[in-house]
Amino acid sequence: MAKNILLVTGSDYSSDVYQAFYDVKKLGHSLFLLSDGSFEPEAGVFEQHFTYDLRKTKETLDYMKQQNVMFDAVTIKTSEWLTPLTALLVKQYNCIGNEPIVAFNCRSKYHMRQELEKGGVSIPKFQLCRNYEEILDAIHKIGIPCVAKPVGGNASYGTFMIQNEEDLESLQENYERSIEYLKKKAIDEDVFAFNAEEMDLIGVNDHVDMITDYLVEEFMAGSEISVDALTQNGETTIMGIEDQIRMKPPYFLQLAAMLPYLCTGEELEEIKVLVSKTVTAMGIKNSASHTEIIFTPEGPKIVEIGCRIGGDDLHDTILAVTGYNLMFESIMIALGEKRNYDVKTKCHTRMEFIMPKKAGIITKIDIPDVVKNNSDILNIDLLLHEGDSVGLPPDNFEYIGYISGKGKTPEDAKKNLQEVLDKIKIEIE
Ligand SMILES: Nc1ncnc2c1ncn2[C@@H]1O[C@H](COP(=O)(O)OP(=O)(O)OP(=O)(O)O)[C@@H](O)[C@H]1O
Ligand SMILES: [Mg+2]
Repeated sequence: MAKNILLVTGSDYSSDVYQAFYDVKKLGHSLFLLSDGSFEPEAGVFEQHFTYDLRKTKETLDYMKQQNVMFDAVTIKTSEWLTPLTALLVKQYNCIGNEPIVAFNCRSKYHMRQELEKGGVSIPKFQLCRNYEEILDAIHKIGIPCVAKPVGGNASYGTFMIQNEEDLESLQENYERSIEYLKKKAIDEDVFAFNAEEMDLIGVNDHVDMITDYLVEEFMAGSEISVDALTQNGETTIMGIEDQIRMKPPYFLQLAAMLPYLCTGEELEEIKVLVSKTVTAMGIKNSASHTEIIFTPEGPKIVEIGCRIGGDDLHDTILAVTGYNLMFESIMIALGEKRNYDVKTKCHTRMEFIMPKKAGIITKIDIPDVVKNNSDILNIDLLLHEGDSVGLPPDNFEYIGYISGKGKTPEDAKKNLQEVLDKIKIEIE
């Protein structure tokens, strides 16, 4: 039977994601889009494109109620900040997906830590801090080294490490400059705060300020991976594990990623158990998830989990590596179609972020056509353009873009990517 499917998003999709939409339409279903109106989707894909200021959760729900359409499924690709809204819409139309409180618990790092603690999942020690004085107090309780991060952050914005006693001298300035940056982001872009009414609607008992409230956590030393998984009726399957390379402390911006993660069968089993336990502890029953793990000397611990598909190039690289389109799979799960997976490695991928080397204005970005037309290149995504200003943490946590490539082996993928990286010219003045 033909179904109405609503997609919620904060940004446009890649061609691999559009392919999922075409495949869903071929099954006879109709697609609808809800966005903030910041882009024009490909023509002919969506029956209707609803646009609203999606930061206003309650208003958006009312706006959708006024539309004369009922939906059989509501889902999302990656927009982390829209996962609670998506869950509220799932509830509004009585569809399959996450409970609003589950999505919120994944959004607020404080609530996430509480749920994981209750579920007996390995996590670092943590403490909620409402202001600078509380951060200072938490650092003394948890001990140095530790990490301070905004409760509602994403993309590591505003996250920094306290490595030694000297770092305490710049702590107040670091915190204040970070929240200054986050406040700007909250208004302009995707670091998103909920008001009291919205938190009540979601069913949040202890309210948090997603921007100025911080968590101080015990520092987890070790290498880091992210795991994209699909959960259907509480059963979790791992679809992709990404090996991450991050900046050296005190900041944690991701620099590069490799897929698949190379490990022993034993290690893979350990990751599977940990991810399933994490998904269950959070109450995720029917959706994609993206979990970050650090391998500490005491064993793997959870950094965080999102109830959505991983960001940046992950959707497309997982498709290249496994042949599975996670957007298509997420829609099938939202429709309640029973899925079975047999995940195999078809190639290796490597992605590198293009980071500004200094603060200034981008005067030139030159990506020659040979790079764009290279069949080993999967994805080139520029978030900033000529004329945009760039900076370095803690004043600015943004990267210019990223590029990913593939190969038969990890070495091959690295070589193919390096060849094109050498041809890209970026000038900052
Ligand atoms: N307790 C910790 N110990 C060590 N490193 C940490 C800790 N918490 C966070 N980090 C580092 O900071 C990064 C960002 O933290 P986290 O994932 O919680 O925030 P985020 O803003 O959602 O980040 P992103 O979107 O980059 O994944 C982590 O991927 C990890 O590298
Ligand atoms: Mg993270």
